[in-house]
Amino acid sequence: MKLFDVYPLFDIEPVKAEGSTIWDKNGVKYLDLYGGHAVISIGHSHPHYVKKLTEQLNAIAFYSNSVKIKMQEELADKLGELSGYTDYQLFLCNSGAEANENALKLASFHTGKKKIISFSKAFHGRTSLAVAATDDAKIWAPVNMTDNIVFLPFNDEAAFEKAMNDEVCAVIIEGIQGVGGVHIPTTAFLKKIKSLCEKFGALLIIDEVQSGYGRSGKFFAHQYSDVKPDIITVAKGMGNGFPVAAVLIQPNIPGKHGMLGTTFGGNYLACAAAIAVLDVIRDENLLLHSETMGNYLMLELKSIKGVKEVRGLGLMIGVELEDACAPIRNKLLSEHKMFTGSSSDKNTLRILPALNVKKEDIDSFLAAFKSVLSK
Ligand SMILES: Cc1ncc(COP(=O)(O)O)c(C=O)c1O
Repeated sequence: MKLFDVYPLFDIEPVKAEGSTIWDKNGVKYLDLYGGHAVISIGHSHPHYVKKLTEQLNAIAFYSNSVKIKMQEELADKLGELSGYTDYQLFLCNSGAEANENALKLASFHTGKKKIISFSKAFHGRTSLAVAATDDAKIWAPVNMTDNIVFLPFNDEAAFEKAMNDEVCAVIIEGIQGVGGVHIPTTAFLKKIKSLCEKFGALLIIDEVQSGYGRSGKFFAHQYSDVKPDIITVAKGMGNGFPVAAVLIQPNIPGKHGMLGTTFGGNYLACAAAIAVLDVIRDENLLLHSETMGNYLMLELKSIKGVKEVRGLGLMIGVELEDACAPIRNKLLSEHKMFTGSSSDKNTLRILPALNVKKEDIDSFLAAFKSVLSK
């Protein structure tokens, strides 16, 4: 059987990884500043994570959501504590798209309405509603096309005010737009959305799939504003590579048996991975580290010739170049053995290292980046 050919691949075969380092099958060493699409939060193969997952695998790996899985409660408690959302409710699932799909469905169930507002350059995943709320017509199949979703310009308060009405069940927005090229919603914009959601009986969903879990220097990027969403979605860094995702739901939205569901969501291994990640974020003080390293990296990047703009918070960084970034990214990989990311904006490179990336690794990247840009 052949693999279904949907991914353009680098000709590299990683076989081992530790922290921010990856080795390929030929023993060549790479610096990972991208974490496989922002997934690696506590570094590859962190010893606490490996231990917790190994122990869990030796105990019990899976049973479905028809029995009590106490680890789900431990995860909910720890996530509530670290994020500050102790009174929210947790629904566990498996991927970012699934988290957003469930968040949007829940908003529609809860309000009895069906219009959704999303924004220009948004990316929310590839399942049917999530992709319909993603501003990229190239990845919509005909079946995904719906007039239930309205796209509005990002950070445009006046346009939002004009479009909002009482048919809207949800407004969905990323904590920081990632795939779109690292764009941060202003506090004023988030506040405007929140107040009009309250006025018109809609729910505010903040997609923290990429920007959450400490990446921004706060647990959630939206916590730089004092806006509290009704629903928050998480994935990526939550499991440091183990597929696990979640929907955090404000306390006044009641659950009902059968309303949402999944076979794999919240299984023992996923919980072990997610708990280990939270332990490490807390014990190694990674929010502060992410903020400090991110500020340092962004400051240095701003002074490099050829860099037009640096956007970001913590270790979620977009570097907009004067020209297309693909040749620069390819050179960083082929000549300097460093992984970085692209975005839907061809000039913007994304830097999304592990939250415990070392300063010396950042310095190596800066030296390589300067050298590539100077040529
Ligand atoms: C903000 C955001 N939401 C949702 C998703 C979809 O997540 P997944 O690929 O786990 O379905 C992504 C993936 O890049 C994302 O960046």
